[in-house]
Amino acid sequence: MSAITLSRLTKVYPGGVRALDALDLSISDGEFFALLGPSGCGKTTLLRTIAGLEVATGGTVEIGGRNVTNLQPGVRDVAMVFQDYALFPHMTVQDNIAYPLRIKKVGRAARQDKAAETAAELGLSALLDRRPAQLSGGQQQRVALARAMACHPQVFLLDEPLSNLDARLRLEARTFLKRLQRELGVTCVFVTHDQAEALALADRIAVMDGGRIRQVGTPVEVFRRPANTFVAGFIGSTPMNLLDAEVTGDGITVAGVRLAVPEAARGLVADGDQVVYGVRPEYLDLHAEAVDGALAGQVVVVENLGSSSLVSLDLPGADGSAGVSCQVVVPEGREPSLGATGWVLPREGRSLLYRDGELLGAPRPAPVAGVPA
Ligand SMILES: Nc1ncnc2c1ncn2[C@@H]1O[C@H](COP(=O)(O)OP(=O)(O)OP(=O)(O)O)[C@@H](O)[C@H]1O
Ligand SMILES: [Mg+2]
Repeated sequence: MSAITLSRLTKVYPGGVRALDALDLSISDGEFFALLGPSGCGKTTLLRTIAGLEVATGGTVEIGGRNVTNLQPGVRDVAMVFQDYALFPHMTVQDNIAYPLRIKKVGRAARQDKAAETAAELGLSALLDRRPAQLSGGQQQRVALARAMACHPQVFLLDEPLSNLDARLRLEARTFLKRLQRELGVTCVFVTHDQAEALALADRIAVMDGGRIRQVGTPVEVFRRPANTFVAGFIGSTPMNLLDAEVTGDGITVAGVRLAVPEAARGLVADGDQVVYGVRPEYLDLHAEAVDGALAGQVVVVENLGSSSLVSLDLPGADGSAGVSCQVVVPEGREPSLGATGWVLPREGRSLLYRDGELLGAPRPAPVAGVPA
């Protein structure tokens, strides 16, 4: 059993930075859990505190039902891959990978075999005799991964383990990592800057901000129903459009156009409420002619995304002035010309409403096996 339970976990660094702020989180046994958040939000601190490399200022860390808050890192049965690898410079690749096994007093032949086997799975076989300084950043990162894997811990803590790999290797490494995690059945907490990676790999995602967790959910929940405007603006390869709106009668007015109240928010708003209308650029359709219920604006930027383009339009503000920006993803070959007027129509059932920054009509997150509600 290696579920992780954090209760009111707090870390204040000397000098007063509150990197973790009374954080509560439950991660199930065998779960692949991703931590996402802007730089400086406390992701590395959280991993290091779970590993025991930082001493918590307050709160508790439980692993497998055991309170480990005051235990040394060595007895927590966790392996961490660091953002900066932390390889031993004087050791070869093979000895680096075998090092945790040496600490566990595994015999020399057995640990060298295990190291070579793990290295092979990460495409490092030709590099076993080199030292870290003779490797590229991506190769060093793979050695660090191999070192963490070789000793089969109960919990894997991975701090941006794929960030130095090129795009193709990164895809391969992440598929390999997911397979390995499933095979070993280890609990894995994975920090990444790359949302696509988190959405692709994780059973659940936590989005952090300023030492707190702003939402925990499956990739689908977090992507489709961001619980607040922070998560809405953070998740997604192109951020969600968040447009100021006002409840007027039984509808809402957005950029001078009356729209229906999004389904989930019906019955939860009152005439005159100031709200934010959220809709992803992927869930808007752009028309070249006026369409009922569409927001009209002027095309100001067209960015090529490969098989589609991101079009930015200026919509009229509440007082009729220009200035509210709205983005739409359009398929290849349907790009409008700059300066043209475009009509943006939200797709049925894909828009959300926020009041005071919080999603209206958010359902309770689906319970996850082993996680107390
Ligand atoms: N040893 C330290 N002493 C003082 N402050 C620190 C220390 N380590 C981190 N911090 C501060 O704590 C906060 C959280 O840092 P942390 O490294 O956990 O962020 P992060 O989310 O991992 O960021 P990044 O995505 O850039 O790696 C930051 O404000 C950082 O400056
Ligand atoms: Mg970090």
